[in-house]
Amino acid sequence: MSAVSEDAVRTALHGVLDPELRRPIDELGMLRSVTVDGGRVTVGVLLTIAGCPLRSTIEQDVAAALRTVPGVEEAVVDLDVMTPEQRKELKDRLRPGRGIPFSRPDSLTKVFAVASGKGGVGKSSVTVNLACELAARGLRVGIVDADVHGFSVPGLLGATGTPTQVDDMILPPIAHGVKVISIGMFVQGNQPVVWRGPMLHRALEQFLGDVYFGDLDVLFLDLPPGTGDVAISVSQLLPNAELLVVTTPQAAAAEVAERAGTVSAQTAQRVAGVIENMSGLTLPDGTVMDLFGSGGGQRVAERLTAALGTPVGLLGQVPLDVALRAGGDAGTPIVLSDPGSPAAVALRAIADRLAAQPRHLAGRRLGVTPTV
Ligand SMILES: Nc1ncnc2c1ncn2[C@@H]1O[C@H](COP(=O)(O)OP(=O)(O)O)[C@@H](O)[C@H]1O
Ligand SMILES: [Mg+2]
Repeated sequence: MSAVSEDAVRTALHGVLDPELRRPIDELGMLRSVTVDGGRVTVGVLLTIAGCPLRSTIEQDVAAALRTVPGVEEAVVDLDVMTPEQRKELKDRLRPGRGIPFSRPDSLTKVFAVASGKGGVGKSSVTVNLACELAARGLRVGIVDADVHGFSVPGLLGATGTPTQVDDMILPPIAHGVKVISIGMFVQGNQPVVWRGPMLHRALEQFLGDVYFGDLDVLFLDLPPGTGDVAISVSQLLPNAELLVVTTPQAAAAEVAERAGTVSAQTAQRVAGVIENMSGLTLPDGTVMDLFGSGGGQRVAERLTAALGTPVGLLGQVPLDVALRAGGDAGTPIVLSDPGSPAAVALRAIADRLAAQPRHLAGRRLGVTPTV
């Protein structure tokens, strides 16, 4: 019998990711020991917290990795819990420095704040669909449900998991590959959240600073409707966030959406584009019914272009679709549940356009004026 190589064991273990942190357990300091005794390999693993909800997943993943190593006949996983010092080391490694990682000048994360004038125009539905679509393409995506009073993202994503707390660091649940945090995960049942401006600001600050999202390609913020406290907080906490303005085709809705968009002129935020939702409904006989009128998205794009003095495009028109509503109710966004439906096709085309936008410094206002 050939001896088991410890190197081969360590290489295999490097492939085991912590399910919440999505990083190799050896890089996280979770690998305490490796003992090879003939065909028997014992691996000591340190969990971040004692009540780790995913302990059996980690245990199974480690055992499965060990069984791939030639010569291993028996895999023993010995679970223990990190000491407070080890936890602090882990936190320091994951989050060097305090504050909001996405607002650092060297952040590579593209941040989209999804805004609207009115409620019920489909902001949250658009947010979860774009997030799931980009995640399905292999991007690392997060959502902060910033609609503290009217949170709906966990339901739309079927995110039933609760965040794990490692001291003052919060690990977000992952649904359909998207890391998501919402006040809805911290309140009991369907309790209303009755908070005022300063508390909303603090909650948002905590979501952005204390939640460990890791390196993200894209972060979506699902904003409450209107131009209120949260929109202002977002502009302060994440000045590099770009607005995605959602409107229905209706003239009245377009007017208020335009107001939500022009706030960006005061906050010096870029408007990434306008999305028209609830456009023409295709009836069973093939005719299209413009339930909410038409032209609202185009109108908002034109008016914002004029008001901001910089081109703001209409990124797409998402038709009314029963499957979109049903997908939201079931917790599986339509881009995943019914990717061929007209609404999903429109949403995927919008995702194409977002993915094609330049990331990082290109196209971002640097707040400096070039001298000639
Ligand atoms: N294109 C669409 N077709 C059908 N129903 C939609 C569409 N967009 C949104 N809805 C439904 O409209 C309601 C409001 O959408 P939601 O995303 O919660 O809006 P908001 O976040 O702007 O308040 C939800 O029940 C949702 O399922
Ligand atoms: Mg909403």
